Amino acid sequence: MNTPICEFLENYVQKGATRLHMPGHKGIGETEKYDLTEIDGADSLYEASGIIAQSEKNAGGLFGAHTFYSAEGSSLAIRAMLYLATLHAASRGEKARVLAGRNAHKTFVSAVALLGTEVEWLTGGGSYLSCRVTAETVREYFENAQSLPTAVYLTSPDYLGNMADIAGVARVCRENGVLLLVDNAHGAYLKFLPESMHPIDLGAHMCCDSAHKTLPALTGCAYLHVAKDAPQMLSENAKNALALFGSTSPSYLLLASLDAANKYLAENYREKLAAFVGRLELLKKELRAHGYAFSGNEPLKLTFNTKAYGYLGAEMAEYLTGQNFVPEFYDPDFLVLMFTPEISEGEMARLRKVLLALPKRTEIFVFPPRLSLPERAMHPREAVLSACEKLPVEKCVGKTLAAVTVGCPPAVPIAVSGEVIDESTVKCFKYYGISHCNVVKE
Ligand SMILES: Cc1ncc(COP(=O)(O)O)c(C=O)c1O
Repeated sequence: MNTPICEFLENYVQKGATRLHMPGHKGIGETEKYDLTEIDGADSLYEASGIIAQSEKNAGGLFGAHTFYSAEGSSLAIRAMLYLATLHAASRGEKARVLAGRNAHKTFVSAVALLGTEVEWLTGGGSYLSCRVTAETVREYFENAQSLPTAVYLTSPDYLGNMADIAGVARVCRENGVLLLVDNAHGAYLKFLPESMHPIDLGAHMCCDSAHKTLPALTGCAYLHVAKDAPQMLSENAKNALALFGSTSPSYLLLASLDAANKYLAENYREKLAAFVGRLELLKKELRAHGYAFSGNEPLKLTFNTKAYGYLGAEMAEYLTGQNFVPEFYDPDFLVLMFTPEISEGEMARLRKVLLALPKRTEIFVFPPRLSLPERAMHPREAVLSACEKLPVEKCVGKTLAAVTVGCPPAVPIAVSGEVIDESTVKCFKYYGISHCNVVKE
């Protein structure tokens, strides 16, 4: 597979030209020398017709979709997807309404606020990071709704490694002429498993993948994929949708990283991935037999239910960090480790040893507070655009949340802008270490 962006940058560096163009570092530095702007021949991300278009075509060939680069993460692709759903609704003379799994990333909420999209939530038990949505849940909602939504929006895999039944939900959506959008930020690699579990192959109309989360790509690299059989207006407007929210100076380092990832994926990645997933599955089995308990079914994550082994998430994280293994995420109940085939056999063997050496303690029976869906006082847009004040959470009962209160990771809101904070929300905020909220000023 060719890498037209990387080749262009290398040739430009070799020429040693005096750079009378942006960026201001003028190419001085080992990383900086590859950092360009839209000079002649370098193409332009949102009007691509040259090397970027060729590279995106390569990516599209690998993913079997209309694929568009984002140099601003899945966050940009999520805003673009919602805008495209809005355009789709407008083309039918409707206002966009989205039925979304409640464990949506905060970017979804900010997109809803920016676009004024109507949103209804699907809830599904478990941690606020998960939301068990099944084909049946969606079918039931459709049967009882006065009108069908423009789109269903699911986050799968979620932060804890749970994967939704995308194929089943896609079938229901397609039968009813509703779009299925998937936040697949954690699942770019799913395409390359022996049997693809990528949302586009399972019937989603659009999805975002953060290349940087699971593929060897720089932070910020992501894709917006539009299924080949999705309404044509979605792919036709995808570039404009990304441009609406994106910077006019997308990083060429990130574009080159996406370009290089194509070559990596086209070579022996599938074989490496299959072998690694097998090794990880064996490790999980052995750890389970040793007493560990896990959540989620995503093949490249280990999500420990730490309390079942007698530890808080923070305690297990501290132990692992002390042994030079840095986890992706932990909260009081879970610890998440993210793997890729770049983790060596030696590192895997050491991790196994370290985990088996941790003594099992008595199970901790303290559960997270139950979170009921807060009442909605206003649309997220109105809340986000209102005058607000920051208050300690104890003083927020009865007040309307303005800015989404959430740390990153996991960046999944416990309450959404426009919702009324009640006692149960405050309990949850405290449990997850959130001490202050931005609320609408009264
Ligand atoms: C589920 C989920 N969706 C979307 C995003 C945003 O992705 P990005 O960081 O690529 O903008 C994240 C980031 O952590 C995420 O966890």
